Amino acid sequence: MPPLSKQFYITTAIDYVNGQPHLGHAYEKVIADVISRARHCLGEEAFFLTGLDEHGQKVQQAAEAAGKDAQTYTDELAGDWQSFVKKLGISNNDFVRTTDARHQEVVCEILQQLYDADEFYQDEYVGFYSAKQESFLTDKDRDADGNFAPLYGEVQELREKNYYFKLGRHQQWLIDHIEANPEFVAPDYRRNEVLGFLKNNTLEDLCISRPKERLTWGIPLPFDSDYVTYVWFDALTNYLSIPRARGEEADLWPADIHVIGKDILKFHAVYWPIMLKAAGLALPKQVLVHGWWQKDNQKMSKSIGNVVDPVAVIDDWGLDAFRYYVVRELAIGPDGNWTDESFANRYHAELANGLGNLVNRSLSMLTRYREGIVPPQHDELAAEAIAARDKLLGELKSNELQAGLMTIWSFIARMNQYVDETAPFKLAKDPEQTERLGEVLYNLAEGCRLLAIWLQPYLPTTSHRIMEQLNHSTDLANLAEEGWGGLSAGHNINMPEALFPRRDK
Ligand code: ME8
Ligand code: MG
Repeated sequence: MPPLSKQFYITTAIDYVNGQPHLGHAYEKVIADVISRARHCLGEEAFFLTGLDEHGQKVQQAAEAAGKDAQTYTDELAGDWQSFVKKLGISNNDFVRTTDARHQEVVCEILQQLYDADEFYQDEYVGFYSAKQESFLTDKDRDADGNFAPLYGEVQELREKNYYFKLGRHQQWLIDHIEANPEFVAPDYRRNEVLGFLKNNTLEDLCISRPKERLTWGIPLPFDSDYVTYVWFDALTNYLSIPRARGEEADLWPADIHVIGKDILKFHAVYWPIMLKAAGLALPKQVLVHGWWQKDNQKMSKSIGNVVDPVAVIDDWGLDAFRYYVVRELAIGPDGNWTDESFANRYHAELANGLGNLVNRSLSMLTRYREGIVPPQHDELAAEAIAARDKLLGELKSNELQAGLMTIWSFIARMNQYVDETAPFKLAKDPEQTERLGEVLYNLAEGCRLLAIWLQPYLPTTSHRIMEQLNHSTDLANLAEEGWGGLSAGHNINMPEALFPRRDK
């Protein structure tokens, strides 16, 4: 059993540095960030790791195509990717590059350990290799016409001696583990996919080396300097190497959640647990699998020129508009479709008219009718607010991020309806309604304060801005502990300003 003090530990896949980041990379980081921030908002400590996968044939080829040596090429691109993470407002605690010495040392440690434990053997391989997917192919990967699918890119025929990891002896316990731990792969249909694969196929041994004549850009095998390490063995180990290198393995391992895309499920739900078990290490608690984004119902690709550039969207619309759209549009699991039109629609309907207008009119009326001074507490919306908060808490704990946003927006809709029902602008004209007006203004201001707290994991900048307009502390507030009534009578708010200005006028 892991010690009780263990921190919540969440990771993303580490991206290949063979080009510039796109929507898919941004999405994965944002959902992991929301989950990590949510844990902080629930009073837990959380550690969040993201980074880069820099070795392998795919990266070596990209470097060659750019006319650079691999180290120079990856060093240059790593800077862009690190800026990208900042641009997305990601709260990662470390950033791994698989070229880091601290990572490479742990990879060698694990390799040597498995070699000594007799998990590897040497053999000759005759077959096909896809650099695009960094994997060996078998006849099973051919389509009905005998061809390899386009997703494998250019496939080369190989005959070479390599080191293999014996997987056969690990197949049954892995099936048992996944059956006994239904949360190990989420959502359910991805778990069933893994189980189906494991039950209907005999696992082939995994080639964990590449001869240096073919590939030099990798970590040399500690037990045979003629080879470098297979890039997936190297990359998967990042999840463990960083906690170990930081001296925090006991506090972090096993990971709570590996967030990944659907295309790399087998690596995370089959190879990685086997590597860990063979090394005597605990398995991660969950592999959380998201779907893939398309643009206008087409696969994003450089050749079509339809790749969504998150940086351009953020520069144009703002960071929180981007974060909102990707989390609200897509639950974690199914595939999504980006259209500029649906982005603009959600921006106007849900951010400008929904949240933005509510906060702006609530605080403007408080400024206009009460000189910005909070009236005595009144609890008309309290029960509905607490019900929304409790629903949100459950959704955040089960990583239902889209549902959580819908819960928050239901309360926003309720508050906007409350403004229409109570019509404070009419109450303000009637001196006999002074007290009633105060009640309404209190409910609106306090509702805005709770909204700001609930938005912390999703839209940290907006949350902060609402708190500033309320002239309230912007320190992280505990989402479970904050109830109704945090604003005190007599508190003086700041001048409101638009959060999401309309763009369609
Ligand atoms: O696979 N929509 O790196 P990668 C959503 N280095 N997600 C997408 C996407 C899209 N259109 N395109 C890519 C690798 N992704 C390995 C991982 S982990 C030890 C090593 C996701 O740069 C993809 O599913 O090809 C993956 O989770 C991540 O972006 C990095 O993909
Ligand atoms: Mg990929």
